[in-house]
Amino acid sequence: MNITVCFDKLDPAPWVQGLQAALPQARVSAWTPGAAAADHAVVWAPPQRFVDEQPGLQTLFNIGAGVDALLKLRLPAGLQVVRIDDAGMSVQMAEYVTQAVIRHFREFDAYAADTQAGRWSYRKPRSRADFPVGVMGLGVLGARVAQALRVFDYPVNGYSRSPKALEGVRCFAGPEQLGDFLQASRILVNLMPLTPETENILNRATLSQLRPGGYLINVARGHHLVEEDLIALIDGGQLAGATLDVFRQEPLPAEHPFWHHPNITVTPHTSARTLREESIAQIAGKILARQRGEPIRGVVDAQRGY
Ligand SMILES: NC(=O)c1ccc[n+]([C@@H]2O[C@H](COP(=O)([O-])OP(=O)(O)OC[C@H]3O[C@@H](n4cnc5c(N)ncnc54)[C@H](OP(=O)(O)O)[C@@H]3O)[C@@H](O)[C@H]2O)c1
Repeated sequence: MNITVCFDKLDPAPWVQGLQAALPQARVSAWTPGAAAADHAVVWAPPQRFVDEQPGLQTLFNIGAGVDALLKLRLPAGLQVVRIDDAGMSVQMAEYVTQAVIRHFREFDAYAADTQAGRWSYRKPRSRADFPVGVMGLGVLGARVAQALRVFDYPVNGYSRSPKALEGVRCFAGPEQLGDFLQASRILVNLMPLTPETENILNRATLSQLRPGGYLINVARGHHLVEEDLIALIDGGQLAGATLDVFRQEPLPAEHPFWHHPNITVTPHTSARTLREESIAQIAGKILARQRGEPIRGVVDAQRGY
């Protein structure tokens, strides 16, 4: 069995080593143009040339959860695309989102500014009931985030494509329930995949349906958000602010207004990182399961786009 590793802007060597140790019976190598045909590939943003030169591939393992960039390539019919299925990402995402919700709800940024200025100040406690959190996307990451928010007693709403039932979460599904979901939420967390249906879904029309003083946490993809609409809604006082981990252009350009906006917190696409050891163990396990003819999780439906 041949396994090839093809990464853009990321050193493949530790992955080659780790996969080789996990699958001693396989031949694992980093892809170079003209390399021998492989059975499986482990990829991050591979070039079209890679796919064209490897028509015999059975499986393409993407080392992230989002496959929007990969699905833009011309892929042969029958090639199975498999995304990372948690492997330590959901706990990081739960951690990131709960910190952003708590920081906003408890006004920790305002306290930090006061303590920085040497001021001992108190703010009136807010009621959790006034801060329902809406989680858009109830998949591997969104479900874990919703569960984590429940631990802190926030009212939690959830939105997905197909109907879901999650304990303690008021679930909405499909475009016909999007308005009700938004109107029931004050803090909005985006954890949907980027697909033609979800591109630009965070815009003036949708964000202005949040309860007054709404707050956006975007941790999915930059192209979900119409950035100028967000700024206009915050500057107009309709939204309180945002925490953003993903952007239409990454790295975020130095002159972008998000950097210095007082109500926007920016992080560099770091809310849930791929953990190498966990991911290698997952991919190796799936290659072996596939050889035994067993079904595997995380297979992408190219038609659906995630
Ligand atoms: N910032 C970061 O560091 C980072 C890290 C990892 C992932 N991400 C992003 O997070 C996204 C979510 O990851 P995941 O593993 O949770 O994905 P997932 O398991 O595929 O879950 C996606 C969820 O979104 C819902 N959804 C998809 N299209 C929808 C639509 N048109 N309307 C309403 N709901 C829709 C799905 O509904 P159904 O349940 O009905 O299918 C599902 O609940 C990834 O695609 C990636 O872009 C970001």
